[in-house]
Parts: sequence; structure tokens; C-alpha cells
Amino acid sequence: MKPLHELSDDEYDDLFDCLSGVDKDPYVDYLAFSAAVRDLIDRDEVPKFFVQVCSKISDERVSGESDAHVLRNCPIDREIPLFDQDDPVTDKYNKKKTFIGEAFLELFGQLTGAPLLAYSTRNNGDFFHDVYAANQYNGTQTQKTDSELYFHNDRTAHPVRADFLALLGMRCPEFDLVFTGYIDGRELLKHLNPAQQATLREPYFVTPFDRYSRDSNRGQVQSEAHAILENDHSFRYYDTRTTTAPEAPDGAKDALIVLKDTIVRSAKQRHRILTKDLLVLANQDGLHSRDMVEINDPQGTRQRWLLKTYAFRDDRAAAVHDAVWLDGVRGRVGD
Ligand SMILES: [Fe+2]
Repeated sequence: MKPLHELSDDEYDDLFDCLSGVDKDPYVDYLAFSAAVRDLIDRDEVPKFFVQVCSKISDERVSGESDAHVLRNCPIDREIPLFDQDDPVTDKYNKKKTFIGEAFLELFGQLTGAPLLAYSTRNNGDFFHDVYAANQYNGTQTQKTDSELYFHNDRTAHPVRADFLALLGMRCPEFDLVFTGYIDGRELLKHLNPAQQATLREPYFVTPFDRYSRDSNRGQVQSEAHAILENDHSFRYYDTRTTTAPEAPDGAKDALIVLKDTIVRSAKQRHRILTKDLLVLANQDGLHSRDMVEINDPQGTRQRWLLKTYAFRDDRAAAVHDAVWLDGVRGRVGD
């Protein structure tokens, strides 16, 4: 994908200096960290170009022009440590002592009006989590895998789901080719006739929780029966996992097969996330994937690290869940 904006070196330095002014730890006290980032906006310290870039992204989301954007040469921490892949999250707490990447993602969320979302049992409830291979999840369909990911949305089986995902390239392979695929929900709709759409809008389907979720919460085995197609063009779907509920009529299976064909036929966008790239995608109004296209250095590529956030579309979408925030922290939900 073509970046919407590539920061010049001067823009990089200005934004980096601005973000360096945040002296709170997002992993110790997210609310204080978020407030410190809000202060940068309130004190008018954020470089103007970045305010404008974020406002362009918000406008394109609202107008329907695009739900997928790339920014290039975004600020990240000066030191990018390697983590022990037996337990990369704990090792991150020990080794990562600056929070430029986190402050950048928080600022992006605030300037696009999209509050962040966190799950209590995912990275210990952190609002900033990692796409980073953990040994125990090798070959699985989870955030911590070292393998490909089929077309899906994140937390498909979970009742609270992000509207947008942000992925910031902290350390990406220089030569190996790993692509993130994206299909806009409107493109999928084009291939489905009204009768097929109507069937996909019925709660005839189930999605088993992934292994990372099951390991974190043994009660998470399978979603309730759910529709695949929701809202105008949201698809709640994980390829090879989402299937028909036991009591669903035969027509549900037919519609599921048509959706699988549709995914193959639909126009796709693909982006190779480079170090310092930000890729933001709709999580529900589209499907995404990971394709490992050419891997000559599997060990190096296993150390790929994306800092990731989940976000609601806007304050109104977050407020729907006001009753379920944990410990009074807006955006943090249980699992
Ligand atoms: Fe994903």
C-alpha cells in the first residue's frame, strides 16, 4: 500500500521530541500515561503536520473513502531490545524503559478520536501489546504465532471487538517478505447476493476461541451463535474456524461456502510493514491476514515485532460498553 504520508527527517525529530515529553509508564498506569499524552494536545505541543495527517485519516474513515492507511517513518524508541521468546511480554517489562512507540500510538488514537481497547487477560490488560512470536504458540492461529494467519478479524469470538487495529513496525525483516493482507467489507458485499447476505445476517454461526484466549481463560471455548454479517459491511469471521452452529439450517452452510469463494475472489490490498511503518485497518469492516511470502531467514523473521493497539471507532462506540469496564479504566474489558 502507498503511504498516506511519509514523515521527513525533520518531522520525525519534531514528533519524537514531542513524544519524549511523556514521562509516564503505560504498563504501570495507563490512565496517567493517556492523560500525559492528552496534555501534549492541550498544550498545543503536537507538530501541526501530524494533527493534519490524523484529521485526514479520520475524514477518510467517515466519508468511506478508506478504512486502511499507512504512515511511514513514524517515531519509535531508540533502543529496540530482543525479547526472550519463552516469555516475551515479561521480558518487555524488564527491558523496555522508554515509551516512544506507545506514546505515538496513544497520540494517534486521541487525534483520530478513537479510544483504545484492552482485554484483561491479553498481555495482562495492557493497552499496548505485541505481535511477537512466543515459542509456545508456534504454528498456531494467534497473535503470538510465527506463522501465516488466514483472513479474519481479531477477537472474532469475543463479545467486545475493536473497530480498528494499529500495527507499528518496531523491528521488521529487511529482506524477508511478510505481508499483511486486507479486504474491505464493501468489496466482500459486492460478491454476495441479497439472499446470501440475509442468511449471513442470521445467528447461524459459531467461532471457537483461539488457543491464546483459551490458555488465558479456560471458560473461553466457543462464541455464542452469531451472525457473520453485521451493520452495513462488518464481517465477524475467522477463516477455517468460523463454522455453522449445530442447529443452523442447511442454507447456512451454503452461504458459508459462498463467503469462502468470495474471500478468494475479492480484490485485496497487501502491505509489507517496514520498521517505522504504521498500518491501521478496520477490524470489523474488513478482514486481514498475514502472508509469509518469501522467508530465507526464519530465525530473523521470528524476531519481527509490531507494537499493536485495538481501538473503538469513536467515543460513542466505546460508551456502548460503559457498564463493563474493569477497575474503572475506560476501554479495559474482561475476558
Ligand atoms: Fe489479526
